[in-house]
Amino acid sequence: MRPSDKDDDFTSHRMSAERWSLLTTAIEKLGSARTLDKVIEILRGTARRIAGADGIAIVLPDNGQCHYLTEDAMSPLWAGLRFPQNSCISGMAMQQRETIIIPDVMVDPRVPHAAYEPTFVRSMAMVPIGSPDSVAAVGAYWSVTGDPDPNAIALLEALSRAATTALENARLLASLEDLNNALESRVAARTAELERTQEIARQAQKMEVIGKLTGNVAHDFNNLLTPIMGSLDLLLTRRTATDNVLRSANVAMDAAERAKLLVQRLLAFARRQPLVPKPVDIAQLAFGMKDLLISSLGARIALLLDIAPSLPSARADQHQLELALLNLVVNARDAMPEGGSVTISARSGRGHDQPTTLPLGDYICISVRDDGVGMDEVVLAQAVEPFFTTKGAEHGTGLGLSMVDGLAAQLGGALQIFSTAGTGTEILLWLPVAPQPVAVAGGPSADDENKGTILVIDDEPVVRSGTAEMISALGYDVVQAASAREGLDLIDDGLDPTVVVTDHVMPGMTGAELALRLRVERPRTAVMIISGYQGIDLIAPDVVRLSKPFRQVHLTASIAAARQQVAA
Ligand SMILES: Nc1ncnc2c1ncn2[C@@H]1O[C@H](COP(=O)(O)OP(=O)(O)OP(=O)(O)O)[C@@H](O)[C@H]1O
Ligand SMILES: [Mg+2]
Repeated sequence: MRPSDKDDDFTSHRMSAERWSLLTTAIEKLGSARTLDKVIEILRGTARRIAGADGIAIVLPDNGQCHYLTEDAMSPLWAGLRFPQNSCISGMAMQQRETIIIPDVMVDPRVPHAAYEPTFVRSMAMVPIGSPDSVAAVGAYWSVTGDPDPNAIALLEALSRAATTALENARLLASLEDLNNALESRVAARTAELERTQEIARQAQKMEVIGKLTGNVAHDFNNLLTPIMGSLDLLLTRRTATDNVLRSANVAMDAAERAKLLVQRLLAFARRQPLVPKPVDIAQLAFGMKDLLISSLGARIALLLDIAPSLPSARADQHQLELALLNLVVNARDAMPEGGSVTISARSGRGHDQPTTLPLGDYICISVRDDGVGMDEVVLAQAVEPFFTTKGAEHGTGLGLSMVDGLAAQLGGALQIFSTAGTGTEILLWLPVAPQPVAVAGGPSADDENKGTILVIDDEPVVRSGTAEMISALGYDVVQAASAREGLDLIDDGLDPTVVVTDHVMPGMTGAELALRLRVERPRTAVMIISGYQGIDLIAPDVVRLSKPFRQVHLTASIAAARQQVAA
């Protein structure tokens, strides 16, 4: 062997070893490539040296075209340009999924000569990448004609196979990531949903606890207010009282009346206010309140009434419903310091638009809408909570909406609030449709023969003696008992009361139970229950009832009504 042959052999072995080493490094790098960009970067950085070429180009298919994405060449080729897929060699190689070798670009009929003429390229090899479909191609170009070195082609093809695997991995990884992201967002959505449900449950529990607490406090307060108002009433009717005493008693009575209103709102929120649910004609109620509402709104706010014709009656407590509407209208007024309009509308509501908390059925939906300042999300979330107010302690008790909400729930309906800051507020009050037509109420006739004995039963000594004093001021004889049992014993011992006035919630026998028993055993004895509790309507719906606290006039009317019942 000639020394020069030996030299050539040595050089080509060295080159081949270098290219193999380059290929191995590239394959290693491709093994950890996670994206198409990374794969292309590795190809661009190594393909030219591996192929021993004067230039390489990386081509991606793009909408029927071949996009010459990037290149590494001795002088510029076509980087950034696009050619129709079926008229360029890269397109053909990708379509046929096999390497195309062109020893002389200027004589090969497949080559678009015009594109090659200005370049150094005289021979080339185009290797597709991707399996089964080609997703890219790498072209190697030489400035001399002739068949490229088969080793170079083999190395280039090995590089292409490694890139194919890397691309497949990248694709799998991307879909795994997509899956992961989709799973993560589903988990996040579920968690949020769960948290929302838990928050609603927490809120409901909180309201229930506050409700119970408020209800108990309000109930005790009522018990205290009853003798206070009774005693004041007695003082006010005393002829011997001096002007000074009368003035003070009047001031005290005004405060007691305000306290009574506050307690009523608390009881309403706690869903424990005594209600007298009857069929209520909403049109009549709204038009009846019109003047009051207009004067409450003031001159700068217009009131619009839009009541659907022939609306069935709602099952509600007329008086409490009026208070609720007044509360909502006053809230609307406060939300429109610059003026605006309030629309009260009412319609039949059933089916899809009724709140999901309500059992399916027929409802009347009363809406109070304003175009005032509205509520942001924070205020909206707390608006119904008792004592939540944005009006300052001296202007708002924060019990208005709590009362309306409690009333709606107690009547078997619901309250909904829709509000956006800056746009206005709409409050919907859902009430069940009443089963019967509006009843014509007859006024209680006064009984001026206040003679006979009244048995007053209450376990609270202060309340009992207060009530007893008020009754005896009416002219009756009064006998007191601390429990239903004690009252019944007195009757068994020969007491013959004209009227039994009893508290409802007492240890042992309740007032309602006593009333039912007396009705059977002594049908001529009138019974009247004094109570701050709801629910008696259901236990003893036709027993005359007086809500705590009350004034002398209410007491007189109720005793008369109870006596009338047994006289009938
Ligand atoms: N129509 C409304 N527009 C804007 N905000 C309202 C409206 N109604 C109620 N709010 C907000 O909800 C809060 C609570 O209302 P709620 O009626 O319970 O109490 P209040 O009006 O503040 O006090 P009170 O009713 O004792 O006068 C209000 O302070 C106000 O921030
Ligand atoms: Mg209010």
